[in-house]
Amino acid sequence: MVIIDNFCNSKPEVINRIQKITGKTVALIQGDVRDKVFLGTVFKQHAIKAVIHFAGLKAVAESVANPLRYYDNNVMGSLALVEVMTEFNVKNLVFSSSATVYGFSDTKPIPETAPLSPFNPYGHTKRMVEQILEDLSASDSAWNIALLRYFNPVGAHESGMIGEDPNGIPNNLMPYVSQVAAGKLKELSIFGNDYPTVDGTGVRDYIHVVDLALGHVAALNVLDKNCGLLTVNLGAGHGYSVLELVHTFQEVTGRAIPYRIVERRAGDIAMYFADATLAKQKLAWQTQRDLADICRDAWHWQSQNPQGYS
Ligand code: WQD
Repeated sequence: MVIIDNFCNSKPEVINRIQKITGKTVALIQGDVRDKVFLGTVFKQHAIKAVIHFAGLKAVAESVANPLRYYDNNVMGSLALVEVMTEFNVKNLVFSSSATVYGFSDTKPIPETAPLSPFNPYGHTKRMVEQILEDLSASDSAWNIALLRYFNPVGAHESGMIGEDPNGIPNNLMPYVSQVAAGKLKELSIFGNDYPTVDGTGVRDYIHVVDLALGHVAALNVLDKNCGLLTVNLGAGHGYSVLELVHTFQEVTGRAIPYRIVERRAGDIAMYFADATLAKQKLAWQTQRDLADICRDAWHWQSQNPQGYS
């Protein structure tokens, strides 16, 4: 296996930990997915059979402030990758897409056939890359492409050796809660409790990151069987509210999570969660880990690595 990373939002230490966990040697090559010459050298030196494309920026608020950086990294990077894959006749690709392509969907749960209406630059870049790959697949049936629409990936590997290490103050709920639990942050601000949900707080489909990883392995296996183009939600198929997550985290870890209710966050949706039927049918995959597992593993990572990978 070969990992390419420009480390703009990760650290090389992760690879050492992956090798410790798996007992496998991983070839790590620092470089940028937008650099076609660099990519060409990698494809020349390694017998690549399939690519899982994770390389992209993923912070919604940052994408609003700096859209060109997102179009360059996420769209131009993907274009460079598939052009080099074509040159080397490597036509098996798993793409890390996102539920943000659905935008403000009224359908609950959300199936893959729901209307697509992303409303922020991050979501636009994910939909644009999906369109590029859809057109590529239509132009050349030799391509096998899995577009995986992630809902809310959270948690950490059960070993506590690898996990989420966000730059600066976390935007997302779970890393923020973990840092409050660790005393790195004072209290959680809950963005609104007046939504039409079970307790008024936002509801999301949280998926354990190890379940997410296993979804990629399942997708690779299906590519092997010449699946053509496959678009699949990766989610648990049900949602949890912010308060349900906070209460579960406290129960599972014994750590207090002080919080206060504040104004809604602009752009937030009340509730969204996946229709996970297609993943079960096409990938023979479904989530195995529940919210308690997510909270336990997130805390295990945070408590073992208070400074992340640094
Ligand atoms: C979850 C809930 C907030 C922080 C994310 C990523 C996006 C995409 C989808 C990959 C919401 C509430 C949060 C806080 C809070 N991922 N919240 N206080 O907004 O669903 O989107 O997942 O493609 O990249 O942005 O996730 O974790 O930010 O919020 O009350 O300090 O927690 O209002 O209801 P979201 P999130």
